[in-house]
Amino acid sequence: MSRDKAPKRHKRRESSVSKPVAPPRPDPETLEIVLWPDPVLTRRAGDVEQIDSWLLQVIERMKHLMEAHEGVGLAAPQVGLPLRLFVMAEKAKADQAIAVINPVLELGSETQEAEEGCLSLPGIRGQVIRAKQITLTGYDVKGGPISMPLEDFPARIAQHENDHLDGVLIIARMSPSARIAHGKKLRELEEKAQ
Ligand code: NI
Repeated sequence: MSRDKAPKRHKRRESSVSKPVAPPRPDPETLEIVLWPDPVLTRRAGDVEQIDSWLLQVIERMKHLMEAHEGVGLAAPQVGLPLRLFVMAEKAKADQAIAVINPVLELGSETQEAEEGCLSLPGIRGQVIRAKQITLTGYDVKGGPISMPLEDFPARIAQHENDHLDGVLIIARMSPSARIAHGKKLRELEEKAQ
């Protein structure tokens, strides 16, 4: 998949030697599913720099939350972490879930449309066009390379979760009429967040 990288902006800082701010590392047990319109869901996430015990605990927590909410996939921004990482399991079972770190998707040309929902957009479902076949590459929890061809439902899950890492939600992929149809529900989520 071609990923458009945002152009780098030069930040004006008082000091040219200021260190980059390390992302927060909250206690994995406190992580919960974040709902739209939380801004973490619409920002591009950054690469995972190291696989350590904190990250492994985060992954276990994500698998648990995915199963508890009957989801088939969950991306790190959905638990408030702007990291390129997702878990997925076709049957929504934590013990069958795989974790993919710094994933890259190569999309086949054939597409198909099907209904999707998202744990960060409760009550909203809509038709989304996805590639029928993809190749998913990335790293596993041991840092080993992953490369797997996926088709149909698993390919759809990986594309949905990878979208989260680019800050793209299903409401951005639905037709304009579907977005209008969900207007009331979206306004309710906005009001709840205030
Ligand atoms: Ni989602």
